Amino acid sequence: MISKELVEMLTRQIRMEGDARQFYLSASIWCKTRGLDGTAHFFNMQSEEEHGHMMKIINFLIDVGEKPVLPALEAPKNDFKNYRDLFETSLKYEKEVTESFHAMANKCLEVKDHTTLNFLQWFIEEQVEEEDLFRSILDKLDLIGETGTSIYLLDKELGSRQE
Ligand code: FEO
Repeated sequence: MISKELVEMLTRQIRMEGDARQFYLSASIWCKTRGLDGTAHFFNMQSEEEHGHMMKIINFLIDVGEKPVLPALEAPKNDFKNYRDLFETSLKYEKEVTESFHAMANKCLEVKDHTTLNFLQWFIEEQVEEEDLFRSILDKLDLIGETGTSIYLLDKELGSRQE
């Protein structure tokens, strides 16, 4: 049986994933209203991915006999200093999400909950990809500089995201 503390932690995680969904949608709107259609598409896909993460946790809680209650979500950041800020804020948020999953994994080890620990492994691997995704975009921005032309080219590239 899953511990009360882990249910609370997973419920907080539902909120974090929901907040991420809203945040990425907000970033998508910011881009779309500035002619950055490729980056808007990229963030829209990221938002949908976060919805999937949230659903995965909700379904897990149901599968282990809990009745998850949806927490209130925060209003997302909706203004960004510049193009780089979109990705710096995203990476910062993903790092917080990674920490949260690690804290839950530590709790699982403490209470010897192998079922939940096994469930969390997918997210722990996913977070490596999530952080790498934003870090690599920031690396590219460092490399090519933040000019109109470089943003135009990066926007085109991000518009080709498939999943
Ligand atoms: Fe679901 Fe990007 O963390």
